[in-house]
Parts: sequence; structure tokens; C-alpha cells
Amino acid sequence: MVAGNSDENRGAMSAQLLRGQKALVTGANSGIGKATAIALGRAGADVVVNYVVGAEEAEKVCAQIEGFGVRAYAHEADVSNEDQVVAIVARMVEEFGTIDILVANAGLQRDSAVTEMTLAQWQKVIDVNLTGQFLCAREAAKEFMRRGVVEEVSRSAGKIICMSSVHQIIPWSGHVNYASSKGGVGMLMQTLAQELAPHRIRVNAVAPGAIRTPINRDAWSTPEAEANLLRLIPYRRVGDPEDIANAVVAVSSDLLDYVVGSTLYVDGGMTLFPGFATGG
Ligand code: BGC
Repeated sequence: MVAGNSDENRGAMSAQLLRGQKALVTGANSGIGKATAIALGRAGADVVVNYVVGAEEAEKVCAQIEGFGVRAYAHEADVSNEDQVVAIVARMVEEFGTIDILVANAGLQRDSAVTEMTLAQWQKVIDVNLTGQFLCAREAAKEFMRRGVVEEVSRSAGKIICMSSVHQIIPWSGHVNYASSKGGVGMLMQTLAQELAPHRIRVNAVAPGAIRTPINRDAWSTPEAEANLLRLIPYRRVGDPEDIANAVVAVSSDLLDYVVGSTLYVDGGMTLFPGFATGG
């Protein structure tokens, strides 16, 4: 086996990167959030596993994280509810002393043709995907500013990673609520990055392409669907949650301390206008 290519080696390589840091991952009991929470734990962070439904799965994620010798607990809260978000960060300060990393990941889809889309479908997606990120970022930023930089922990006072999507820039018929929310996340991230950078707070986004998770099961779960999806991915593979989790660990770490206000597309080239490979 090639040294450096095994799971153990990957774990060892990232083991020290986030040692002593305290991370909150929203929507962390499934899909990208779950893989991210586990990867942060493996990299040495204590982790809060937020979820809104699915307590049992959240507890399993915590148990897996604790297996790395770090701390974890599950916290039920709806990120679109202001009081509940305030409570997440308040409890974190009580239990872990502070927060160093926020991964604002919780998100959902409520797909519909625009002419059929109800106001409730529109509002739900905006509330969770955009307002939820605003509320979590606001509460985390307050604590980052209160504490300031602790050199032994990290060069920055805190990191916010907004989970975006290729639909931050790719329009998406039948998903106007979702695409609008992610377009909004792009500007939320950049504006927060500009406003908070003087406080040594780094705000960035990770923008996944098509990742094999429950949110898009219909797009990959049959051979026909997967073949269709692969036409949109120059790298010709559907992403795994770990592809995103690894990107979040990197962006959270001091290795990328000078990266401020960037969107890292982790998409196998989906944003490269694959239709133009043969046309135009
Ligand atoms: C969506 C998925 C979709 C992917 C690529 C993601 O943000 O949640 O449903 O497959 O973008 O279009």
C-alpha cells in the first residue's frame, strides 16, 4: 500500500490540525454535516452535533467522535429559531468554554416549479438555509469577539464556514427557493468576511457539487439517474460526504489562515460549464 494513502495515515495527518478547538456543526446527524462533524473530531476538535430531528443518529455520531478521544454532545435545535440558536452557543460556552469553529451546514430543499411553489415552501428554505446561517454566524461572532485570539489554539479568533452549493452561482430550474438561498449565502459569507476580518475572524464558504447524500438520492440512486448526473461532472464521479468534510477541516485550520472570504468549490468541476466541453 502507498504510504500516506491509507485511512490511518489520513487520520494521523489531520490529527493535530484542530487540536483543542471547539466546533459546532449544524445539521450534523446526516449527510455532509455528519461526515464533517466526524472529520473535525478526528482532527482533534471537540464537537457539538446539532440536529433538529433524529436524536438517535446524532448520538451515534457523538459516539464515533468520542472514539477519537475528544468530547462531543448532541444538541437539538432549529437553526431558524433565534432563541434556540442563542441557546446552542450559550450551552457551548458553558460546556466547552467557547467556540472556535462554526460550520453553518443545516440546509434543506423543498423543490417545485415556480408556478406551483407555495409561500411556505419558499419561506422554509430561506429560513433554514439563509436566516439559519445568519443567526448561527451572529452568535458565534459575538463569542469570537468576546474571547479574541488565543495564540496556542489558533492564529484567528474564530472561523465560520458557510455550507453553500454550486447553486450559489448555477441557476437551477425547479429549485428557485434553494438556488436563491445559496446565492444569498454567497453574499452573506462575503459581507461577514469583510466585516469580521478586522476582528481576526475568518469567514469562508465551501460549495459542494453533487454529493451522495439523502438530499439528492433521486439524482444518483439508479444507474440511469447517476449516468445523467455524471454528464454534469467533468471529473466523472459523484462526490462523497468525506470530500466536503476534508475541505472543511482544511479551511478551518491555520494551514489556510490567509484564506478570507473565499468560496471553495468542491464539485468535481461541475461549475466549469461542462455543456461547453463540446459545444459553444
Ligand atoms: C443540492 C443537490 C444537487 C447538487 C448539484 C446541491 O446543493 O442539494 O440536490 O444534486 O447541489 O446540483
